[in-house]
Amino acid sequence: MPPYAFFQKKYVPLSEAKIGIMTHALHYGTACFEGIRGNWNAEDEQLYIFRCQEHYQRLLNSCKLLKINLPYSIDELCQFTIELVRESGFREDVYIRPLAYKSSEALGVRLHDLEDDFLIIVTTFGPYLDVTNGIKCSTSSWRRIDDNMIPPRGKICGLYVNNAFAKTEAVENGFAEAIMLTSDDYVSEGSGENIFLVTDQQLVTPSCTDRILLGITRATVIQLAKNELGVETLERHIDRSELYMADECFLTGTAAHITPVVEIDNRKIGPGTIGKLTRELQQLYFDIECGKNKKYLHWCTPVYAGIRIS
Ligand SMILES: Cc1ncc(COP(=O)(O)O)c(C=O)c1O
Repeated sequence: MPPYAFFQKKYVPLSEAKIGIMTHALHYGTACFEGIRGNWNAEDEQLYIFRCQEHYQRLLNSCKLLKINLPYSIDELCQFTIELVRESGFREDVYIRPLAYKSSEALGVRLHDLEDDFLIIVTTFGPYLDVTNGIKCSTSSWRRIDDNMIPPRGKICGLYVNNAFAKTEAVENGFAEAIMLTSDDYVSEGSGENIFLVTDQQLVTPSCTDRILLGITRATVIQLAKNELGVETLERHIDRSELYMADECFLTGTAAHITPVVEIDNRKIGPGTIGKLTRELQQLYFDIECGKNKKYLHWCTPVYAGIRIS
């Protein structure tokens, strides 16, 4: 079965989905995207798309920032996605990448007077970071870009060059992921993840004005911690030194799931092993995202059975 794309309003083999080399988004990064997971549940013989509606709500917000006019509702975008994944026939975990972009084949730095288009690709996808053993991180020498430069609360393609600088620096220095600080020295986020600390049995995460992407996994974790474990999350500024003194630390993201951080800047977090609360949240999250916890099935859209958009 060849991989398919949703491209120019049709489902086509990926090999037929091509854009011209003059496309505005390719030159100026004038596009925005989402990353959505489809999780295979072998028992149910079902692929569940996790929090599809929330991802498209965020995509439409990013489009607003970029003056991209998508002529589709959230329900329509979810339907295209379900159809594409079903057409592709996957029976394993997948990653879905919707992209809204300035499609005019035109030069000139601007957001206005350009045509827009939308595509989706779907691909198989394994683990992104080591969720089993945890990872070592470093704080980046690259600052997180400010809201008044390119707003990080939008998932804007051009902005991700900032993330790429940080990630490559970390990996080339022997770390799995970078933790970026804001221009006023507060902890912001990883190159593709939000960050949480556990301090005195409380969860702490940077607030929404600390130049973060408002992660859907972040929101999921805050809700699960409160409702299932009775643990509140404090959203506030975090100083760099708090990273080193935390009892536990983990990263959250669609790709990263809940990834424990066991070391930052060559300092052990807690005893340097995965913490208790991190493990409990991981267990809850993994069951929920692949449709094993019936209480949260409304977050999971089945691809192969009678279609229900969560
Ligand atoms: C910069 C950044 N922060 C955080 C996240 C986590 O967001 P989510 O949990 O919605 O995947 C992502 C991934 O999309 C990201 O790219």
